[in-house]
Amino acid sequence: MLDFNDKVVFITGASGGLGSQMARDFARAGATIIAHDFGLASAAAALMKELAATGGKHLLVEGDLTDPVKVKAIAQQIGAHFAHLDVLVNNAGASPDKTPFPEVAADLWDKVIAINLRSVFLVTQACLPLLERSAKGRIINISSTAARNGGAPGGHAYASSKGAVSSLTKSMAKDFCAKNILVNAIAPGLIDTPFYGDVKVAEKYAERLKSIPLRRAGMPSDISGPVLFLASPLADYITGEVIEASGGLSMMA
Ligand SMILES: NC(=O)c1ccc[n+]([C@@H]2O[C@H](COP(=O)([O-])OP(=O)(O)OC[C@H]3O[C@@H](n4cnc5c(N)ncnc54)[C@H](O)[C@@H]3O)[C@@H](O)[C@H]2O)c1
Repeated sequence: MLDFNDKVVFITGASGGLGSQMARDFARAGATIIAHDFGLASAAAALMKELAATGGKHLLVEGDLTDPVKVKAIAQQIGAHFAHLDVLVNNAGASPDKTPFPEVAADLWDKVIAINLRSVFLVTQACLPLLERSAKGRIINISSTAARNGGAPGGHAYASSKGAVSSLTKSMAKDFCAKNILVNAIAPGLIDTPFYGDVKVAEKYAERLKSIPLRRAGMPSDISGPVLFLASPLADYITGEVIEASGGLSMMA
């Protein structure tokens, strides 16, 4: 069992499918959680109730992470409660675009890039002073297999944004070595969360499952496990890596 006692962990998009699992697992391992929510108030309230049952003084923060003013306010709020931050998980993201390339509107393009990429830049920049005060800071970005294989049809902006998240992971990792902050990413494949929305009921979903060597969709714990590993002392010599957790998809395409 990994031990995160005395560690302060900030998870963006913590009221979503993957983020809430990470919050539960880090809290069960002793961490104090700063859970970020945007627009999912009842899920966030339910999560905070669960976290409270594990003990500790967890904090809920809220806001659109594409807005630099809001992000700065969140970092200030965290700084008012905690002297340092040990782990930042840049997990918030969305893929609202499934549009044939000729019809992709510039506004939609900008929105998707902002949700998935600008947010990672803004949150990391705002939290850096707090991470620098940790003896061993860790940043874990959530990319996607779409970064490598171009993703689902019509997901041009999403695949591009996640490709950039993987690149940013490496450029930040180089830069932050001197600060003793390790930066890595997990690239999930098909994971069973609300992320997929209506796609789940489509016939294509069954087809996609067949294409996965392990023959099943991932569960949120399949992503949370590698995230906790990267945040732990077991990963003290790993930085600048993008690790796929995709049931073997990297062998196929
Ligand atoms: N589920 C999958 O199969 C899968 C695969 C690859 C990558 N991912 C990535 O994993 C991460 C988590 O996805 P999930 O499956 O838990 O999805 P989800 O929809 O359950 O959760 C996404 C979270 O991001 C938050 N969010 C969205 N837009 C935001 C914004 N502008 N500002 C702040 N927060 C915002 C939402 O409020 C939500 O909490 C995302 O980055 C997603 O791209 C998921």
